[in-house]
Amino acid sequence: MNELDALVEGARAAFEKAQAPADLENAKAQYLGKSGRITELMKGMAALSVEDKKTRGAAVNLAKQAIEAALTERRQALAEAELLAQLKAESLDITLPGRQRGAGGLHPVSLTLERIEAIFGSMGFEVAEGPEIESDWFNFTALNTPEDHPARSMHDTFYVEGGSEKAPNLLRTHTSPMQIRHAVQHVKRHRAALDAGQGMPEIRVIAPGRTYRVDSDATHSPMFHQCEGLWIGENVSFKDLKFVFTDFCRTFFESDDLVLRFRPSFFPFTEPSAEVDIQFQQGPLAGRWLEVAGSGQVHPNVVRNMGLDPERYIGFAFGMGPDRLTMLRYGVNDLRLFFDGDVRFLSQFR
Ligand code: FA5
Ligand code: MG
Repeated sequence: MNELDALVEGARAAFEKAQAPADLENAKAQYLGKSGRITELMKGMAALSVEDKKTRGAAVNLAKQAIEAALTERRQALAEAELLAQLKAESLDITLPGRQRGAGGLHPVSLTLERIEAIFGSMGFEVAEGPEIESDWFNFTALNTPEDHPARSMHDTFYVEGGSEKAPNLLRTHTSPMQIRHAVQHVKRHRAALDAGQGMPEIRVIAPGRTYRVDSDATHSPMFHQCEGLWIGENVSFKDLKFVFTDFCRTFFESDDLVLRFRPSFFPFTEPSAEVDIQFQQGPLAGRWLEVAGSGQVHPNVVRNMGLDPERYIGFAFGMGPDRLTMLRYGVNDLRLFFDGDVRFLSQFR
């Protein structure tokens, strides 16, 4: 093998050894670069005679072409190998079954809230919404529950930044602050007529939403829902409360002989007050009573805080627990299941 053939063989071997494009470019520089072997040979021909230059030049050129061809070949081989490796890494098994897209559904408590709004809507109640971060004034004080009132201790909650020292902000412990918020707006709209002694249209509203307390057991969750109801007029009594709430429950549970128990109770913002219990008809707790709401005739001090004259305006309010209604409706024995987020449980209500 002559010197040039050996050079070509050497180049081929060096290219073959290169396992990555960068190695190959380094190997190329050794042969075809500025101070590579071929370039050296070209420079070395300067001293040759014209005749020798011709033959030598032709031979060196052939060697150069052979090296360039080997380089191109190796480049392609490396690129192909890289592509194959990538395809292998990203391989896709098109015989695998497709991913299923489950059909979604409403949360059982959302279904209950929809029913509540539809039933009270049919009785002429509007729906109002209010803030979950509430001021101490609306949550307690305006509801006849001043600071240091013992009833506050049953409503322990988170206090959050932003309020004033006299009325700090907190996560609302019930939807009752919406009684004040909504009534104040209503009264504002009818202020002129009220001042002129003409009166105002009745207040008839429900206010559903999330509420918070330091509570956790089978019938209490730290985050839960309530739906407030308020009906204020010149002639609305406790009898109307019993009728409206009973009618609502019978429609909600689709049962005309559903039994409700109005149990005497105490709330600072109603007088007289009652809590409403309903019996489980089905499920592991069948026969057991469950409290679903607090209620009562709105206290004169609260009517006053709404901006109304308690001598003229009277009415009732209730605050029910949609989570408890959902338990009763489906016979679920632990309310916290609704908020654990287990799809196996929740998908049963679709
Ligand atoms: C109240 O919250 C009063 N604001 C209700 C009220 C409104 C009375 C208007 C008079 C006039 P109580 O704490 O009892 O009352 O709660 C009312 C209902 O909310 C309960 O009957 C129950 O159904 C539900 N509830 C209360 N705490 C929880 C909880 N931690 N988890 C789930 N539901 C709850
Ligand atoms: Mg209660």
